[in-house]
Amino acid sequence: MPSFPPLQNDLILRAARGAPTARTPVWMMRQAGRYLPEYQAVRAKHSFFEVVGTPELAAEVTLQPIERFPLDAAIIFSDILVIPQALGLTVEMVPGKGPHFPEPLDGPAALDRLVTPDLDAALGHVFEALTLTRHRLDGRVPLIGFAGAPWTLMAYMIEGGGSKTYKQARAWLYRHPDAAHALLERLATLIGDYLVRQIDAGAQLVQVFDSWAGLLGPSTFQTFGLPYLTAIAERVKAAHPDTPAIVFAKGAPYALDALADTPYDVISLDWTMDPAAARQTVGARAVLQGNLDPCALYAAPADIRRHVHDMLAGFGPQPHIANLGHGMHPTHDPEHARAFIEAVHDVSEQMHGG
Ligand code: CP3
Repeated sequence: MPSFPPLQNDLILRAARGAPTARTPVWMMRQAGRYLPEYQAVRAKHSFFEVVGTPELAAEVTLQPIERFPLDAAIIFSDILVIPQALGLTVEMVPGKGPHFPEPLDGPAALDRLVTPDLDAALGHVFEALTLTRHRLDGRVPLIGFAGAPWTLMAYMIEGGGSKTYKQARAWLYRHPDAAHALLERLATLIGDYLVRQIDAGAQLVQVFDSWAGLLGPSTFQTFGLPYLTAIAERVKAAHPDTPAIVFAKGAPYALDALADTPYDVISLDWTMDPAAARQTVGARAVLQGNLDPCALYAAPADIRRHVHDMLAGFGPQPHIANLGHGMHPTHDPEHARAFIEAVHDVSEQMHGG
């Protein structure tokens, strides 16, 4: 395993482990991306998957928001769809439209098309990017690794791209439950191993994105979501018991109580969830992350500060990791992201600090 420079800011690791911090650590989902002109400059020369697949470029883009803002964590620049790619599916990123699978899974027989990847051969570039980024960070802040959740990846693999309803993927759960379980189990094992290897390579926390958990219902989440999210956390913890793991089940308030009993250390809330109510449900079983509405960053900086104050008050004095309730938008003003980050630092220090 590689060795790295000592960490100068461990706020997010302390908070994720439930320890008090003098101020609330903050990062933003999609903090590296199109709202940053320096990201656009890299993308003008390289396609999205070229950036993801080239460790030097992925490291450069990962560091862009860290160079610009006083963030408390970096998140490796990659995508959740590298796992379907590793399984043999073609994924294209269509400008203005998002991901597109020319040949999605059109029935259980299509599962035979999937390959069993060798992680280092298929995704070695991600591990290299993590190691390189850890060195370049030089201990400034911790580095987050991530993966998509089994259900969210299954939804893309069947639907072939973005969708409001993922009807075809949801239909599988009822028409082909055995094939659905087989696919989800295969994904969970691969994702668990992938996150373990990310930690081996330098990731200091990991987050699992279940972006479409909200399209399941309470009982389908129980059957097709939760067991596989749990399996991933168990696999990660078996290899790296001290590395904090975060789960983000977007749009699924019904998931909170059950997720609090899994090995995940942190539960990330989207902006529709009330922090105080979530705290009531979760109690001391997990740390909470979130959850400002990304659209609040369209407000004037002074108003952003007020929204941050209200958010921090809602989460209360318990350990908390500040974030948005979902990712940055391409039309956000970087200076408003700065207002959000600085407000978290200042206001949390005044509220609960030393
Ligand atoms: O957070 C970060 O800064 C790390 C980078 C990151 C990206 N994607 C970069 C990206 C992370 C953590 C992701 C995760 C991801 N990818 C998710 C889960 C989070 C979520 O948003 O719910 C999902 C669902 C995807 C799939 C995906 N990738 C979509 C739907 C899109 C299109 C988005 C759009 O608005 O066009 C992508 C592309 C993508 N992933 C971009 C970035 C910066 C934009 C692509 C570009 O540069 O053209």
